[in-house]
Amino acid sequence: MRIDIVCVFPDIFSSPFSNSIIKKATNKKLVDINIHNLRDYGLGKRKKIDDYPYGGGNGMVIRIEPVYQCFSMLISNRQYDEIIFMTPDGDLFSQKYANDLSLKKNIIILCGRYKGIDQRIRDHLISKELSIGKYILSGGELAAAVVIESIVRLLPGVINKTSVLTDSFQKKSYFISPPIYTRPSIYKKWKVPNVLLSGNHKKIKKWFLKKSLQSIKKKLDF
Ligand code: ADE
Repeated sequence: MRIDIVCVFPDIFSSPFSNSIIKKATNKKLVDINIHNLRDYGLGKRKKIDDYPYGGGNGMVIRIEPVYQCFSMLISNRQYDEIIFMTPDGDLFSQKYANDLSLKKNIIILCGRYKGIDQRIRDHLISKELSIGKYILSGGELAAAVVIESIVRLLPGVINKTSVLTDSFQKKSYFISPPIYTRPSIYKKWKVPNVLLSGNHKKIKKWFLKKSLQSIKKKLDF
């Protein structure tokens, strides 16, 4: 899978992409992530990418030309399955959508900054708008990193199959993982539940199921 990120602050991605799962997937060539600095496509000597909003108001708006130039370069080299814009007013990102995206071959993710982007980009160049939650970040980079992390871990060969399939929110959307523990069995006065130390797999399975159901009940508040 190839992911092209178009953004104003590429360095934000250095840490999330050079650790753990994404690093491993990149090294194994299971994903090819390319980051493009919008400023490289900026206008004039000063590489201008933003301007004042028509009609007045505070804040700057990302101009259409740098985005169009960058997208044109990308699109001239390959076909894209989805061109995504990260924005707080987009469709709420979900495990289901992560699953769908993980099946795509090439995607572009555009990250917003400042007051926003020229509406014509949204109207004519974007195929999907995504939000990672109903709160405002200063830009789309961290939101894009969240989306990419959730996609990359689903790619075949990245992590072992059973652990991906047993994730909370995978399979059935209501399923919630039971509590998990590891050694030591007692820390201070806090004990791991006896059933987990019993070695009785039937009992343990039943206990996990019971705990999952209790968590679902609590979440749904009945
Ligand atoms: N950009 C700023 N806030 C965001 C959010 N909550 N989701 C996606 N992109 C964003």
